[in-house]
Amino acid sequence: MKAAVYERYGTVDELRIEEVPVPVPAAGEVLVRVVATSVNLSDWETLRGSPAYARTSGLFRPGRRILGSDIAGEVVAVGPGVSRFAVGDAVYGDILQRKGGFAEYAVAHESELAAKPAELSFAEASTIPQAGAIAQHGVARGRPGDRMLVNGAGGGSGMFLIQLATAAGMHVTAVDNGEKLAFMQSLGADDVIDYRTTDYTRSGPYDVIIDMVARRSMFAYRRALAPGGRFFMVGGTTRALLRALTLGTLIGAVSGRRIGILAVGEGPEHFEPVAAACVAGDVGIRIDSEFGLGDIAAALSHHGEGHALGKVVVRVAPE
Ligand SMILES: NC(=O)c1ccc[n+]([C@@H]2O[C@H](COP(=O)([O-])OP(=O)(O)OC[C@H]3O[C@@H](n4cnc5c(N)ncnc54)[C@H](OP(=O)(O)O)[C@@H]3O)[C@@H](O)[C@H]2O)c1
Repeated sequence: MKAAVYERYGTVDELRIEEVPVPVPAAGEVLVRVVATSVNLSDWETLRGSPAYARTSGLFRPGRRILGSDIAGEVVAVGPGVSRFAVGDAVYGDILQRKGGFAEYAVAHESELAAKPAELSFAEASTIPQAGAIAQHGVARGRPGDRMLVNGAGGGSGMFLIQLATAAGMHVTAVDNGEKLAFMQSLGADDVIDYRTTDYTRSGPYDVIIDMVARRSMFAYRRALAPGGRFFMVGGTTRALLRALTLGTLIGAVSGRRIGILAVGEGPEHFEPVAAACVAGDVGIRIDSEFGLGDIAAALSHHGEGHALGKVVVRVAPE
C-alpha cells in the first residue's frame, strides 16, 4: 500500500510516499481502508518533534514512520475477538497514540472507532474525532453566561468549540491570526482578537480560557481571569505545560482561580456528541480544502502556513 512516511523529525521535506506492507490487525483491532483523513496540529508537532512532548514514540527519531490520526473509511478485515464491527462497516475515529492514518490502510483498535453516520461524508467524518473531542471537553468547562476566550480558535478544534460554546449560551471571544477573524465571526464568535497585534491576556477578564497554543507566563493567564475563573491549556509549548502543572496550580490556588491542563479523553464517547450535533445541523463542518495522499506535504504546509479556514482533508480514496 502507499503511505506517507518519514524517518527523521523535521519539515515536510522529510515526508515521502512509499510502498509499505499493509498492516495486520491484532486481537481487538480492525483494518480500515482509509477514504479520508484530516490534518491536525498534532501531526505537525509529531513531524517536527516539537514541542518535546510530541516525541513520545522516540526521543531522537520517530518510532512510528506514518503520521495521521483522524481516519474515516471502511473496515476490510477484523482481528480476533472484534465484536463491534464487521467487514464493510463505515467507521471513523482518532488513532492519535498509534498513528498511521496518512496511508491507504490503517489499523485501529475497535474501541477507537465509531460507526460513521450515513448523513456525513467520509471527508466530513474525518474532521471530527480529534478536534471534536477537544471542543467537547472545552465546552464542558464553561457554563451558560460565562465569558469564554478561546485562543487558537481559528483552527480545527476552535471551529467546533466556537459553535458549541455560543449554542450553550456563552459569550465567546475568539483569538487567531487576522486572516481568520471573519471566519470565526461566521461561526458565531461574539468578539475576535488578532494575536499578531493584540495580547489577549491584557483583555478580559474571562471566566474560562481554553488555550490551544499556550505559550505565555502563568502570571499573564492569571491577569486575564476573573475571580473564580478557569484556564485550561490544550496544547502549546513544553515550558507552558510544565509551568501550568507547577507554578500555574500554585498561582491559581492562592488567587482564587484555576490554571491547569485540559486532558482530552480519546474514544467515540468523546467525539460522537459532536458528530450528532453536525448531523442535526446544529454545528457546521467547514472543510477548507482537500489534497490527495501524494500531496501530503502540501496539505500539511497549507494547514501550517495560517491560511486554512476550517479543516484540511487528505482524500485517500473516492467517497
Ligand atoms: N490536551 C489534550 O489532551 C490534547 C489532545 C489532542 C490534541 N491536543 C493538542 O491540541 C492542540 C490544538 O489542535 P488543533 O488541531 O485544533 O490545532 P489547529 O487546527 O492547528 O489550530 C490552532 C490555531 O492556533 C493558531 N495559532 C498559532 N499560534 C498562535 C498564537 N500564538 N496565538 C493564537 N493562535 C495561534 C493557528 O493559526 P496560525 O495559522 O496563525 O498558526 C491555528 O488557527 C494541538 O497542540 C494538539 O497537540 C491536545
